[in-house]
Amino acid sequence: MKLLAKPEDNGQNSRRSHTSRNLYCGDCWNVLRTSKPGSVDFIYIDPPYYTKREFLSQGRKESTRRMPLHFDDRWNGGHVEYLRFLALRVQLMHSVLRPEGVLLVHLDWHIVHYVKVMLDQIFGAHGLINELIWYYQTGGASRRHFSRKHDTILVYGRGDRHYFNAAVVAMPRSPKALHRARWPKGARISVNHTHKNPDDVIAIPALNPMAAERTGFPTQKPLALLELLISAFCPPQGVVGDYFCGSGTTLVAARRLGRAYTGCDISPAAMQLTRSRLRDV
Ligand SMILES: C[S@@+](CC[C@H](N)C(=O)[O-])C[C@H]1O[C@@H](n2cnc3c(N)ncnc32)[C@H](O)[C@@H]1O
Repeated sequence: MKLLAKPEDNGQNSRRSHTSRNLYCGDCWNVLRTSKPGSVDFIYIDPPYYTKREFLSQGRKESTRRMPLHFDDRWNGGHVEYLRFLALRVQLMHSVLRPEGVLLVHLDWHIVHYVKVMLDQIFGAHGLINELIWYYQTGGASRRHFSRKHDTILVYGRGDRHYFNAAVVAMPRSPKALHRARWPKGARISVNHTHKNPDDVIAIPALNPMAAERTGFPTQKPLALLELLISAFCPPQGVVGDYFCGSGTTLVAARRLGRAYTGCDISPAAMQLTRSRLRDV
């Protein structure tokens, strides 16, 4: 495990003191094992999905163009080996979370059903806060079945209480709904009238090949998705962790939202890309 960037913390903020802006290259098992228990508010992971595929592409920016971006999602021991791999790391994430902290696990149809059972065992069935559907609208077309156009994000809380800011992620009501609404004469119109609580189906388009934020990393997620999740579930002074960070989307979103963060990936090329993206924020 290699620490790529040292904490930029002056020690004034004890909540952030251990984890402010750390980037590690290596197996997250090693990072998590040596992390301070109860120190992170929000963990998002987008681990391998058990697709049984190998992903390979190249960076798009000048500084990363010649860099092969690679990650392997093939498992000799099948789903048993995959689940063992993930369970060992999720156990450690559970202990790294603060008592009110949350873990978000992003997967698709391949293995999410097994992982949900595993998370129930680690967090307790009462720990499930949301099963979010990310409806990305593109790809997944088939003539043999309904087109597969969503991923699932399982949200688990470590304790009985967790942070959720409904206001910051409230959705504007449709013009039709606003037109239909009947408010008493002279009533002051507040955000509760014009906006509604967000649904558990999040319709944010996947990154198109020409999107400015596209780095060339094969499974890069949109910043808008991570910004929404962090705003909703991570307190403003909170610490964000992503231990399978790939191109660093979660850390870029955390930085843009003023949260401290810890990131890790086993691939040196992914970490180089992450550092370059963070420098540009
Ligand atoms: C689906 S990608 C993450 C994509 C990322 N969310 C993004 O927006 O770019 C999964 C990542 O997990 C990394 N990975 C796989 N095994 C790992 C391990 N044991 N420790 C840390 N990272 C690992 C891979 O190198 C890959 O970059």
